[in-house]
Amino acid sequence: MKKIFIANWKMQLDIKESNSLSKGYARLFKTSRDEVVAAPDFSSLSAVSVNLKKSAVKLCAQDISAYNKGAYTGEVGAQSLKQLGVKYVLVGHSERRMYFKEGGELINLKISQALKNSLIPVLCIGESFKERQAKKTHLILRKQLEEALVNLKISDDKLIIVAYEPIWAIGSGKAISPQEAESAHVFIKGVSAEIIGQIPRVIYGGSVNANNASDFLEWPNIDGLLVGGASLKLDEFSKIVKLK
Ligand code: PGA
Repeated sequence: MKKIFIANWKMQLDIKESNSLSKGYARLFKTSRDEVVAAPDFSSLSAVSVNLKKSAVKLCAQDISAYNKGAYTGEVGAQSLKQLGVKYVLVGHSERRMYFKEGGELINLKISQALKNSLIPVLCIGESFKERQAKKTHLILRKQLEEALVNLKISDDKLIIVAYEPIWAIGSGKAISPQEAESAHVFIKGVSAEIIGQIPRVIYGGSVNANNASDFLEWPNIDGLLVGGASLKLDEFSKIVKLK
C-alpha cells in the first residue's frame, strides 16, 4: 500500500516563499509511487494549487471551519477548500489545541464537515511528555479519539487518517523510537475500529528528518509521516520520501 507523506508548512512561509517551494515540489514529484501531500497556509493555497496541478503532489489545508457558509468571521469553509483543489485537511493539530484552545467537540464538528464535503480529514492526536511519564498515553489517545470520532457515520467510501504526534516530539528534534510509535499506532487502529468500524491509516509526526524517516517506515502499522520543519527543505524532504 502507498505510504502517505504530508508536508506541514505551518505558518513558516509567506505566499512568495510557498509559491517558490511548491514549484520545487512540483519539479521533484512529477510522478510518485507514494502519496505526497503539501499543506501550505490558507493564503498560499491558491498559488500552490496552480503550481501542483501538473505534479503528483496533493493539496492539504491546515484547518477547516466546523461550519457551512454563513456569518463566521475569519473562517474558511469546506466549499472554498474544495474549489481550491484541496484533498486533505488537518484537524486538531496540537498547535491548534494548545494555542487556539480547540477541544474535542469542535474537532468532531470539523471532521464531520470535512467528510460531508468529501475532504479527507487528518485527525492529529498525541500525549504530552507529562502524560507519557504518568503512563497515561493510552488513556489520552483513547479520549482524543472518542471525542473526535463520536457519532460520525463513515461509509466505506470515506477515508479518515490519524496522525500520531507526541506533543513534545513536535519541533523539538526528539522523535520517539519507531517501536514506540508502532505500538501506539496499533493501539490507535484498534480503538478507532471500535468507534467508527473502520481501521484508519495512521501516520507518525514529530521531528521526522532524512536520518530517521526510513526507520519509521519499516514498521507495518506506520502508514506514512507528517513532516514539519524538514518539509521546508526540498533536498531533505526528497530524502524522506526516498527519492534519493
Ligand atoms: P516537526 O512538526 O516535523 O517540525 O516536528 C511536525 C508537525 O507538527 O506536524
